[in-house]
This record gives sequence, structure tokens and C-alpha cells, in this order.
Amino acid sequence: MNNNNIYIETYGCQMNLADTEIVMGILKNYGYQITKELELADVVLLNTCSVRENAEQRIYGRLGNFKKLKSSKPNLIVGILGCMAERLKKDLIEEKKIVDVVVGPDEYRRLPEFIDMAFTGDKGIGVKLSRTETYDDITPYREDGLQAWISVMRGCDKFCTYCVVPFTRGRERSRAINSIVEEVKGLSQRGFREVTLLGQNVNSYNDSGNDFSDLLAACADVDPMLRIRFTTSHPQDLSDKLLYTIAANQNICKYIHLPVQSGSNRILKLMNRTYTIEHYMEIIDKAKSIIPGVSFSTDVIAGFPTETYEDHLMTLEVMRNVRYDGAYMFKYSPREGTKAFKMEDDIAEESKIKRLTEIIDLQQRISYEINQALIGTEETVLVEGFSKKSEKFMSGRTDSNKVAVFPCSESIKEGSYIKVKINRATSGTLFGDVISTSLPSEKDLYKTA
Ligand code: 5AD
Ligand code: SF4
Repeated sequence: MNNNNIYIETYGCQMNLADTEIVMGILKNYGYQITKELELADVVLLNTCSVRENAEQRIYGRLGNFKKLKSSKPNLIVGILGCMAERLKKDLIEEKKIVDVVVGPDEYRRLPEFIDMAFTGDKGIGVKLSRTETYDDITPYREDGLQAWISVMRGCDKFCTYCVVPFTRGRERSRAINSIVEEVKGLSQRGFREVTLLGQNVNSYNDSGNDFSDLLAACADVDPMLRIRFTTSHPQDLSDKLLYTIAANQNICKYIHLPVQSGSNRILKLMNRTYTIEHYMEIIDKAKSIIPGVSFSTDVIAGFPTETYEDHLMTLEVMRNVRYDGAYMFKYSPREGTKAFKMEDDIAEESKIKRLTEIIDLQQRISYEINQALIGTEETVLVEGFSKKSEKFMSGRTDSNKVAVFPCSESIKEGSYIKVKINRATSGTLFGDVISTSLPSEKDLYKTA
């Protein structure tokens, strides 16, 4: 019996959130308890992100807090998991003297062993990457809820020149389709209403001849009332078959996260993105014609080495042409070990900030216009609970992942699908009136207004 309490904080992408659930599954099997109260913790773990410098800086800041805590609680074990563990390895233990455990993304099975080592005064270090580990047989620990992440593959083989992920998460590998489908079934039986299939590049999923379209279709078949989302798609591997699969399955959300990164072919080449803007736009146009009402989101990097103002204007141009629903927008951040790190980071900080601001402002305007155009339409919303701002209102999400807010009423239950007529919109939120409170059948669910 093991009475120790573990407290975990997660930083970074959704993949890390999914990994934290795997870690909690492993630790619970070993008898550890998970606590949400830092004061009760015997072990504190940080699941970390290295994708940009400021992510790492935040985590260093947090480690500073734990250093103080440790001076009043000397037996506290502090561990670093995830991408920073992989990237910085022993440095974390040697430099930041408060760290006792350092475990990279492919060694979580041995985490209990490493924590035991720390309890006996040794350092627990596991940073080997694996070509095969997918944690297929581990049941992630999830509290009951409506929405779940499922990691369907690990690692990345794309080697975009700015990106540290292939080094911190290793080579690409897919989980077995059957075990993913079983996990989806389990979640559906527990009352979950939405799953998001996760991978750095889901379009290159491959399990003994089953591609990502096969996986999506198999997941969609489990329960027509369960929404299926997925992220992230790389333009190079996005097939027509996938577009037809999305179009053919009512419960696969008509929403594609398709990072463009830059609008300039010269920069895309330097980034090793392996597509041109013309090719990218062809995919967007094809998706729009095959999937009526499809929406897109993207990732954009401002200020990659040698990016001229003209290159930057091309990025704005693509954003205007595609009209993304939303975007994750970043300043370029040099990461040691990547190919781009060897290029000079020659765009001045002020220019990066100026370009990023222009990108953000444009996206905000486009999101606002897209949402304004929804006024008067009827949207199917999965009810999530009370709105953040007022208990008089509830909120949920549309198929295209927009937050919709509507007045509360007793007949509206969390986890049900309702129809909302939109009467007001900002760039981030839709507001409306409920016009139907229960949509029991698949047919009703997706009937368009
Ligand atoms: N600098 C800035 N943004 C980056 N991203 C990845 N690496 C970097 C970097 N070095 C962004 C990309 C990617 C998203 C997850 O993070 O846009 O799609
Ligand atoms: Fe990084 Fe490119 Fe892989 Fe995405 S596809 S994780 S940006 S290397």
C-alpha cells in the first residue's frame, strides 16, 4: 500500500493533457493517490512544454515557487515530466538543485520506480525515447465529464526546421485502432459526448493498413451522439479520403485545424513544411467543396529567420483568403538543436511584435465577421454547464467549436444537444436564445436550419 499523494500541473499542448491522464493512470495502478491540493502533496510533478522559450520560462518560474515550498517541506519530491525533461535531461537535476525526478514522454511506465528512487534519496532519471511505446494498454485516468482527449499517435517525423517536438517526443508511431475504438466505447458508455483524437500529425496515422480516415470512421460509428474532433493535420498528408469521411459522418465535426505557419513559399521552404501556398489553398478549396460549411483554424509563426515584410504580408493574405475561424499565433522562438537554430534569428524583437500584432488584429476582425454572419442562424450546441460569467446563463459549443451562451432553464441539461438561435456575437462568443431543448435522435441533431 502506498499512501503518498501526487499533485500534477500540466503545461503546453493537448497532447500533454492526454499524457498527464496516462501518467495518472500509471500512478493510480501503482497505488498512488492524486490530489488537487498542493498542500497535501508528497510528490509534485510538472508536465512540461519546450515548444517556445516563454513556455520554458514560465515553468522555471514555477520551479522557483516549489523551491520555497521545499524549504518548509524538505521531503517533498519534485519531478519534471514531458518535453523539458527530454530536452534538458540531467541539466535540470544538476542546475536546478530542487528537481529529484526527470522523466521524458516515453518513460512514464517507469515513473513509479523513479519516484521510489527519489524517496530513497537517489535521483530518478528516465529520458530514453522509444520507437514503439504508445501506452496502448494503459487506461488513462479521467474524471467523469463530457469531453475527453485520446492520444492516437506519438512523436513526429516531419522535422519542421523551427520545431523541437521531433527531438523531445521522438519518432512517429500509431496506436492500435482496436484499442482506440475500445477506449471511445468506454467513454461513450460513461456519458462522454465528445472525444478529440490527438497526434502531432494525425494524417499520417497508420495501423496495419488502417489510415486516419479509417480510424475516424470507426470512432464515429461507436455512438452517433458522440462528437468526434481531431487535431493536428499536416497539409502534406491530408487526403481526399479524409475529406469524404468527414463529410459522410454526421458526428465528425466539420472543423479542420490546418497549420499554415507562413504565407510565403520561400519561408515555407526554409521551414521544411513541404507544401506551397498554392497547394495549401487547393486543399482548403477542395475541403470547402467536399464538406459544406467546413471551418478551419491554423497556427502562424511571425518573424521566422529572414522573413521580410513582404513575406509577412503574404501571411496576412492567406489569412484573408482562407478566413479561419480561429488561429494560434506565435512569435518565432529559436530552439536549440533544431535546424533553424543555426540560422540567424535576424528579425528584431520589435518587428516580430509588430507583425504578430498585425496578424492577431486581422484574425480578430475575421473571427468577428464570421461570428456576426451567424446572427439569425440556428446552431446545434452541446450543453457544457453554467456560463463562466453568470449563473443565469449556460454555455456550450457548436460543431465548429465556438462557445455559445444562452439563458438557463430547468429543462436544459448538461450533456444534451440543443438548438440555439444566434442573436448577438463577439469575436470569441456567440449569444442566443434556445429554440429546442432536447434533440434525442441523430436526425434531429444535425438537421440544418
Ligand atoms: N517558435 C514559434 N512557434 C513555434 N511553434 C512550434 N515551434 C515554434 C517555435 N520554435 C508553433 C507552430 C506549431 C505550434 C504547435 O507551435 O506554429 O504549429
Ligand atoms: Fe513540429 Fe512540424 Fe511535427 Fe508539428 S509537424 S510537431 S510543427 S515538426
